[in-house]
Amino acid sequence: MDLRFNTKCVQGGYTPGNGEPRQIPIIQSTTFKYDTSEDMGKLFDLEASGYFYSRLQNPTCDHVAAKICELEGGTAAMLTGSGQAANFYAVFNIASCGDHVVSSASIYGGSYNLFAVTMKRMGVEFTFVDPDCTEEELNAAFRPNTKAVFGETIANPALTVLDIEKFAKAAHAHGVPLIVDNTFATPVNCRPFEWGADIVTHSTTKYMDGHGAAVGGCIVDSGKFDWTAYPEKFACLCTSDESYHGVTYTERFGLAGAYITKATAQLMRDLGSVQSPQSAFILNLGLESLHVRMKRHCENALAVASYLEKHPKISWVNYCSLPGNKYYDLAQKYLPNGSCGVVSFGIKGGRAAAETFMKHLKVGAIETHVADARTCILHPASSTHRQMNDAELAAAGVGADLVRMSCGLEDAQDLIDDIAQALEQV
Ligand SMILES: Cc1ncc(COP(=O)(O)O)c(C=O)c1O
Repeated sequence: MDLRFNTKCVQGGYTPGNGEPRQIPIIQSTTFKYDTSEDMGKLFDLEASGYFYSRLQNPTCDHVAAKICELEGGTAAMLTGSGQAANFYAVFNIASCGDHVVSSASIYGGSYNLFAVTMKRMGVEFTFVDPDCTEEELNAAFRPNTKAVFGETIANPALTVLDIEKFAKAAHAHGVPLIVDNTFATPVNCRPFEWGADIVTHSTTKYMDGHGAAVGGCIVDSGKFDWTAYPEKFACLCTSDESYHGVTYTERFGLAGAYITKATAQLMRDLGSVQSPQSAFILNLGLESLHVRMKRHCENALAVASYLEKHPKISWVNYCSLPGNKYYDLAQKYLPNGSCGVVSFGIKGGRAAAETFMKHLKVGAIETHVADARTCILHPASSTHRQMNDAELAAAGVGADLVRMSCGLEDAQDLIDDIAQALEQV
């Protein structure tokens, strides 16, 4: 039976047999037992599917990955220990020393650092482009050794909306896949594969878990990118892997499974970054209500943004679902049912006013986290970006007055009342 999206959130990825546990079992075991060495050998040769060591695969994690795969409309998926690991693996699976990647400049700071500093040290070079650039400017960023394009559906913290079709078109014209970090939108609000993206990543730490309980990540493959059309560029997928029993991933697993099998067999084997079965179980509890929660996060954020926009002590509000926002039209195209729960705004009076405001909040809590059931709020200038002076902050696009609020699932009126009383103190 072809189930609808909401039903997949609740029941996807795991169908118990007669008398089996209703909830996904937590297989808290590093290892798995076999009757003969021959049985186990078939697993190592990737000739039979099964489990032998939880650094590579674990049944609990696989059920949860299968659910996220269904939600995104992909063909294969894997969980990782964090969103950072997901983005690193997603890129490193196809780009290594001497290769080049085009990325939107408007991405999460941790991803920017991973790409611009750490992966650069590994010999992978990135060109960062303005997400609002013209097609010509985007095309000009490609090089013969470009292996992928990267962007975030809704960027954290700038809240820019990626023109996925524009980026997919440029990527495909240059024979490379588009990787989209869909953390903020979640598949409830946007499914990037439907717009031409080839690979999707998530920090499941955010809305997917949604309760601030488990750090994790996920990579999903659409199975649509034809690696075999560029066998030299993607030799890593189209020729035999001597480090893994000579397997040629595209031949053995087809387009549907090659990319994720390689990431599991090579990267998980060598680098770890596995998600624990306990965390995967907690993540699945979050996924069971994702479709219900996202709706409320978005309603609350829109109510808060609309209130802030009219407040005399607020100088600006940035929320892509708010009419008049620079990204409103793109949000209506890619995120018509809602974007995310995160709103940023500026308080008149700059740094001092923002600090006073933060101090007096009672419902919103000061945290670096976002996308939690509980409202969390951050003033980057006095916390994550405190080493920068006001001029440096302005250059980084994070003004001293900027406050980022991740609207939780509380009553919207309580969030507004809380903001109102804290602004009275400013
Ligand atoms: C869009 C985005 N991608 C990736 C990450 C990294 O995820 P994690 O913190 O789970 O490693 C974050 C973290 O905030 C994020 O916001």
